[in-house]
Amino acid sequence: MEKIRSFVDSIDVENKKVILRSDFNVPIINGVIQDKTRINLSLPVIKNLLERKAKLLLISHLGRPRNEKDNKLSLKPVYNYLKDKIDNKIYFHSDKIVDGIKDKISYLNSGELIFFENIRFNHGEIENNDNFAKVLSSIGEIYINDAFSCSHRKQTSVHKITKYINNCYAGPLLMKELSSINMVFSDKKKPITCIIGGSKISTKIGVITSLIKKVDNIIIVGAMANNFIKFKGNKVGKSLVESNSEKIVKKIFDNAEEDGCRIFIPIDVGVSETTDGKAKLKQLYSLTENDRILDIGPKTIKKIFEIIDSSKTVLWNGPAGYFENKHFANGTISIAKKISQNTSTSSLISIVGGGDTISAIKNNVQDLNFTHLSTAGGAFLEYIEGKNLPGIEVLK
Ligand code: 3PG
Repeated sequence: MEKIRSFVDSIDVENKKVILRSDFNVPIINGVIQDKTRINLSLPVIKNLLERKAKLLLISHLGRPRNEKDNKLSLKPVYNYLKDKIDNKIYFHSDKIVDGIKDKISYLNSGELIFFENIRFNHGEIENNDNFAKVLSSIGEIYINDAFSCSHRKQTSVHKITKYINNCYAGPLLMKELSSINMVFSDKKKPITCIIGGSKISTKIGVITSLIKKVDNIIIVGAMANNFIKFKGNKVGKSLVESNSEKIVKKIFDNAEEDGCRIFIPIDVGVSETTDGKAKLKQLYSLTENDRILDIGPKTIKKIFEIIDSSKTVLWNGPAGYFENKHFANGTISIAKKISQNTSTSSLISIVGGGDTISAIKNNVQDLNFTHLSTAGGAFLEYIEGKNLPGIEVLK
């Protein structure tokens, strides 16, 4: 593997304009940050650069706006949190990043920081646009990508920007993610079980297809499982399902059979008519037209425990239910505790990843033990799938 240029302490940053691409894509409700893990993990590198007198230019995205300002997706709450945690002077740049930006931010002194508003509010970011890359790169002399979790995106602030800055590096968090995952895979112990949850079915279906060739068991949970439950001829009522998913699900079952990978889907579920309701436990055959599947049931949890007990490596990405309502967090919490317990007592190798998964776990249980806890979701899956991540390729 070609070596990645990593950012090391000996690189002189004093009085230099350093662009740090972090990932503060955190859950925020009514201006309140629900899980600060991603931000807290970035604090040491931010503080280190400020102590070393860099002029720090901090960039992140939040959610998926399309080139437009959207107050609900403002990074202002993150700015307020950073102000509390960092003693150095921090400015918030709420305007879009346009031509002439370099002069507009010339007030920045060494050891100070400008935090930019959601980079995806800018036209050209999502499109990996060359012009926007020129404008964005004009603000810095050194570029550090410390956002492993969005390095699978071919977007300007993780990809095209590197075309216009000579000194581009991978940050310490990104390097730690890579080395932890690489370490686990070089020491791959079978049977391997992959638990895939969450609702972003369209983003995960390709990954599942690829994992089928590499792992022994795949357990599908979360809203994604609804497509499989429906495919098996069950009613799913008002549950979230993706249109035209039948073909994909069939292909997954066919491929799995061919490659000898076992696919497990929920056999019982927790339902409610609304997402703010309480869980009613149901067997799949008894679902009615107003039911929404929002969690896995006890029989499914028992089955998952048996599979985990028979596994030497477990990869988990994506919550098992609508954990935002505590009545539907049981599946996710049970899986977290079981993986943690087996990691401690039976030397299970466990890799847990995904922003949502981490929020679900952190808000509900403390002191869990995993071999590696990744803050990345899609990037984590694509990396374990063996894909080249655009944001990392450009740092080689
Ligand atoms: C994530 O939360 O997985 C990353 O921040 C990437 O976000 P995206 O899927 O909106 O690109």
